[in-house]
Amino acid sequence: MRVLVTGGAGFIGSHTVERLLAQGYPVRVLDDFSTGHLDNLPHHSRLSIITGDIRSRRVVEEAMQGVTHVLHLAAQVSVAASVEAPVSSASINVTGFLNVLDAARAQRVRRLVYASSAAVYGMPARLPIDEDAPTAPISPYGLEKEINDRYAALYRDLYGLPTLGLRYFNVYGPRQDPNSPYSGVISIFCRRLREARPLSVFGDGLQTRDFIYVGDVARANAAALEGGLTGVCNVATGESISLRTLIKALGAVAGKQPLVSYGEARAGDIRESAADNRRLVTALRVSEFEPLGRGLTRLWASCA
Ligand code: NAD
Ligand code: UD1
Repeated sequence: MRVLVTGGAGFIGSHTVERLLAQGYPVRVLDDFSTGHLDNLPHHSRLSIITGDIRSRRVVEEAMQGVTHVLHLAAQVSVAASVEAPVSSASINVTGFLNVLDAARAQRVRRLVYASSAAVYGMPARLPIDEDAPTAPISPYGLEKEINDRYAALYRDLYGLPTLGLRYFNVYGPRQDPNSPYSGVISIFCRRLREARPLSVFGDGLQTRDFIYVGDVARANAAALEGGLTGVCNVATGESISLRTLIKALGAVAGKQPLVSYGEARAGDIRESAADNRRLVTALRVSEFEPLGRGLTRLWASCA
């Protein structure tokens, strides 16, 4: 495989690039560095980096020259930003996505794997959520990812381009930007605990999430590129915990009791989230996920 990773300088992208390089594959990164950082990437003889925007067809075509596989991660990733500026969000997440998908068709790329999201499910009617559950996004971001899934399926059926959308649940780990208010709860809590500030819980803390370590997501991405599965696939551990349990685990790792303040629940928040990950385990053969305590220990060490 010769792999193009769009958004490769970001949180999930950089961990995946490291993994692909370690597995011996040449990797090219296309990133506009809007939220990604050059520092996230290693110096490596098999890694090349192109600075550019996926909204430019010319840039995408150039980046795809000589590539056999594409991992498309570049996106406007904030749900809240998509609510505030839906047109600008869609220009990256729909038009930019289509640029990548169509260039992959035109250049006869062998396989395209892309980042979808658990956000496509919205408020689930029943748990755990499997890939056949109805999609009902409650944000422009979720709708954009659902549109990606539909376009990708159409391109597979219409043009024979093998595509796979990975529906990530709550990803955590080093390099997730804790400074953004829209960052994942774990990176925000880690930073606050380091700074001896109280953790602010939105609601009663009994809401549940499936938190998956970024190294496991990188493993899933690599397996998805190497395998033959098409369609969509949940990427999650299959085990959900409440924020209260998370806070206890974080306190144990940090060796101090976190101060916690409880406030209003966030509008549009999903109460319970639980994933059925059988497709990931059986079709992509990704299992034995990083236990939360170990993942938190790694994150805590990196969050100095
Ligand atoms: P991130 O912000 O760290 O990574 C996104 C990368 O894309 C960044 O490096 C950014 O610079 C780049 N980028 C953004 N717009 C671009 C453009 N127009 N052209 C070129 N590059 C551009 O976020 P992440 O958490 O690593 O997310 C990666 C993918 O996974 C995204 O598609 C996101 O929607 C999806 N996802 C993430 C989560 C999560 O929990 N982190 C959950 C579900 C889905
Ligand atoms: C996550 C994804 C989102 C996706 C959704 C799909 C991230 C950053 N977001 O949203 O892209 O649409 O899954 O299910 O990964 N919380 C606090 N205090 C804080 C921050 C958050 O209590 O300081 C709470 C939130 O209200 C929420 C929970 O923690 O109940 C998780 O929040 P967050 O990490 O933002 O992720 P999701 O909202 O699940």
